[in-house]
Amino acid sequence: MALIPQGVERLRAAGHEIVLEQGAGEGASFLDAAYQKAGARIARRDEVLGESEVLLSVQCPDPADLRSLKPGTIVIGLVQARREAVAAVIAERNLVLLAMELVPRTTKAQAMDVLSSQATIVGYQGVLLGASHLARLLPMLTTAAGTIPPGKAFILGAGVAGLQAIATARRLGAVVSAFDVRPVVKEQVQSLGASFVEAEAVSTAAEGSGGYAKELAQEQQQKVLEAIAKHIPDMDLVITTAQIPGKPAPRLITEAMIRTMKPGSVIVDLAVETGGNCELSRAGEIVIAAGVTVLGPVNVPSQIPQHASMMYSRNVQTLLEYLSKDGKVVVAADDAIAGPMTLK
Ligand code: NAI
Repeated sequence: MALIPQGVERLRAAGHEIVLEQGAGEGASFLDAAYQKAGARIARRDEVLGESEVLLSVQCPDPADLRSLKPGTIVIGLVQARREAVAAVIAERNLVLLAMELVPRTTKAQAMDVLSSQATIVGYQGVLLGASHLARLLPMLTTAAGTIPPGKAFILGAGVAGLQAIATARRLGAVVSAFDVRPVVKEQVQSLGASFVEAEAVSTAAEGSGGYAKELAQEQQQKVLEAIAKHIPDMDLVITTAQIPGKPAPRLITEAMIRTMKPGSVIVDLAVETGGNCELSRAGEIVIAAGVTVLGPVNVPSQIPQHASMMYSRNVQTLLEYLSKDGKVVVAADDAIAGPMTLK
């Protein structure tokens, strides 16, 4: 859901009128009555489309919906993936599309950064999904029926999703280790109580702009694979989150590595939507190989709709407050935040 009732209150205070499609928040447990109480007007979908000056959405509306908008309407959402499919209608209706995925990585724009807010949810839920497919428990238990040693979790990629996965696996009682190519991350991993798996490839050369990673040279990549191969046979739960902006996800787990793992262990490939970190993962599928379960979950934030919406809504609301001048939303092409987000 693009805006929660609390966001409605804040935007009304900034001088905006909010019209909500009937029932739009139900899937995320936000009911129309709560929106009305916050001051929103409830209307039919065609009325919302026909009246709006700014349309807030999660995914990109389809071309038929975009065609129903008034010329010049500003559309805000996760629209980048459908950029080509909607290019013709953007030009035809003179629409302004702001892609939430393209919020620049600056301190000023941090509260609008949807990739970070949703990655937090992905890291958390990835661990829970993995734990629920494990053949064993994660925490150490001392019971009359015997003592169970703690499970071992390995997190690959320690950005926003990875750090949250580490924290979640620790809360479940696992012994956690992690690896990332950016050396700056080692301290963050250790501060969460996990150990850092070292590889010779970890050098400042792997650090790109905005805190993101760069693609590794082939020789470095080989060393990374060797370090992972050495560490992985003893793991129960492996969560992969490694991404390189604008490139396919790096391949970090091969089928040969999976065959060295223990039967009953689980891999959750959270990078499956950008090509996957694991050779055997398939988007939206559960693959079992040599007794190892490989999950490739897609659109993970939708599995935690209430908090995913709450965080997305805060991102959108902060952007709108930033763009508002005297109760109107103004998108200037040379604006440091809106400029890079505008799809041409
Ligand atoms: P991401 O989702 O693009 O990548 C996830 C992780 O995968 C990164 O930590 C990356 O180093 C790692 N990775 C890439 N290739 C790898 C490989 N071959 N092996 C192992 N790991 C690999 O990145 P994310 O999580 O969105 O952000 C990364 C960093 O950016 C954050 O830790 C933070 O320092 C910075 N950041 C800055 C923001 C701001 O200034 N507004 C907002 C959010 C993040």
